[in-house]
Amino acid sequence: MIIDSANRLNQTAEYYFSRKLKEVRALAAQGKPIINMGIGSPDLPPPPHVIEALTNSLVDGPAHQYQSYKGLPELTAAMSTFYENQYGVKLDAESEILPLMGSKEGIMHISMAFLNPGDEVLIPNPGYPTYTSVTRLVEAEPVYYNLDASNNWMPDYDALAQRDLSKVKLMWVNYPHMPTGAKATKADFENLIAFAKANQILLVNDNPYSFILNENPQSILAVEGAKDVAIELNSLSKSFNMSGWRVGMLLGASDYINTVLTVKSNMDSGMFYGIQKGAAAVLKEGKEWFDSLNTVYQKRRELAWQLADLLNCEYSKDTAGMFVWAKLPEGAGDAEAFIDDILINKSIFITPGSIFGSQGAGYIRFSLCVTEDKIKEAISRLKN
Ligand SMILES: Cc1ncc(COP(=O)(O)O)c(C=O)c1O
Repeated sequence: MIIDSANRLNQTAEYYFSRKLKEVRALAAQGKPIINMGIGSPDLPPPPHVIEALTNSLVDGPAHQYQSYKGLPELTAAMSTFYENQYGVKLDAESEILPLMGSKEGIMHISMAFLNPGDEVLIPNPGYPTYTSVTRLVEAEPVYYNLDASNNWMPDYDALAQRDLSKVKLMWVNYPHMPTGAKATKADFENLIAFAKANQILLVNDNPYSFILNENPQSILAVEGAKDVAIELNSLSKSFNMSGWRVGMLLGASDYINTVLTVKSNMDSGMFYGIQKGAAAVLKEGKEWFDSLNTVYQKRRELAWQLADLLNCEYSKDTAGMFVWAKLPEGAGDAEAFIDDILINKSIFITPGSIFGSQGAGYIRFSLCVTEDKIKEAISRLKN
């Protein structure tokens, strides 16, 4: 390349899955019968009426024009009602909700809106790799807080109290937690809010998994006084099998929302009308939808536990989300080498825990976005 890339890319590598899935596809192209239990991209369809809402909308007057930066009033109203019904959180549709094209883009917009170069950002280890890469892209400093099984993957406040947090401006939290599936109680969220207030840190809860295999969906915004220091990201990707639609939302006090809108309104020109109509329709779904979805995931998870047993892994059964997080047996060695061996010899792709941070070393993650038949096939391959 004759022209150098920007310095901000020096510490940012291509996303693990972007790289690894090329390798997995190449193996499939050679005729290997790959079973992909790597990525959390729901394989099930969204409710059929959503597709109808999208297709019917295509002939509406404004269907193909630029859309409002703040989303259709019908969509933000649907998001507001959804939050009230599902989490008991009241939000003003006009000023406290910002529709996003997926919560992943929200991570970038929030970081651009609040971080200056050199600001520190508390990031969970293990955690979603995008928090780190985006922090680096905006030239802020990732600083990690370790989570481990002995503490149910919750922050260790005693350890945090020993640290100099004076440069920390923002903290990412993500409960139900990916990759471990740990669930936060209301008390856990209260502790986080108290910590953020005491240390003057903007707390962002990334909340895409609360309806998957979880009896008790929680929003951090349900904590009294949360809106002073916390904002929340949510997403239709996993809750409604709509990851390709790219619909997420940011929720919180209007000042924070407006600050993010200042960035976002300079980067895109609104979300496609039909997608907003489909999203508004799907948000009317409730318990019945989630029950039927979770019946499928429950069966798949039981099979994935069998896979983990065959690999002599340990795992918790009390988790939420669409993954099984499993600890490799003593002496199993490096998780990347472990999964490569299974990929090459059994044509099963599993994610190594190490891509989520050093606290994920020695773990692997199975995605439940694979049919029961395929998981059964994976079980029989491991038995042979
Ligand atoms: C923790 C976490 N946050 C955010 C996302 C991104 O979701 P979206 O599809 O809404 O961009 C994912 C997707 O895998 C995730 O695991």
